[in-house]
Amino acid sequence: MIIVIDGTTSSGKGTLAKRLAKHYGLPHLDTGLLYRAVAKAAMNAGVDLRDEAACAALAADIDLADFDERDLRTAGVGTGASVVAALGGVRRALFALQRKFAHRKGGAVLDGRDIGTVIAPDADVKLWVDADVEERARRRFLELSGMGESVTQHAVLMQLKERDARDSQRQDAPMKPADDAVWIDTTRMNPDECMAKAIEVVEAKRKR
Ligand code: C5P
Repeated sequence: MIIVIDGTTSSGKGTLAKRLAKHYGLPHLDTGLLYRAVAKAAMNAGVDLRDEAACAALAADIDLADFDERDLRTAGVGTGASVVAALGGVRRALFALQRKFAHRKGGAVLDGRDIGTVIAPDADVKLWVDADVEERARRRFLELSGMGESVTQHAVLMQLKERDARDSQRQDAPMKPADDAVWIDTTRMNPDECMAKAIEVVEAKRKR
């Protein structure tokens, strides 16, 4: 069974993906980490994040095992990830790896922005997870402050809006729900409620 979860930043899709993978005993790939790793590698090497050829070359060799996840989760790397993610060459370089993961024997859970539309349009279950931007900014602010970053909630809100715009307006694989995705709005849901709703959707699909 392939379960894909697309949606906006800090909507709760990452937590949901991890929990669903555990619940169904499936491997999980957070595809955002791939774009974050490309951005981090480019920053480390002093490569311009808009240099498509150089960033695509880094993407072709990217291995998440070479990175400490905490270094990839910062706000700066998140913004950088959305810049390199708009480069077609980077997306093409990361395509095969993601597709192979999705089609592992036994299935997989993947979360990102274009998984249901581009990477695995044949997935058994497609979820689109979103929440009001103010609520997402509140969650992200708490997460970043907890990681020791000195940010204000207003600055986080502005960054999220900028990232949403860049992710949904790019030409190549823009962030959008697949036509057959089931929508989950987590604005007024806690992680347990969100998980219960997702399991309901998966079980309904399995019965068919
Ligand atoms: O989900 P996360 O915030 O870690 O993703 C970082 C950035 O990577 C996103 O803002 C988006 O630009 C990009 N991304 C993407 N396609 C995916 C996953 C992430 O373009 N499948």
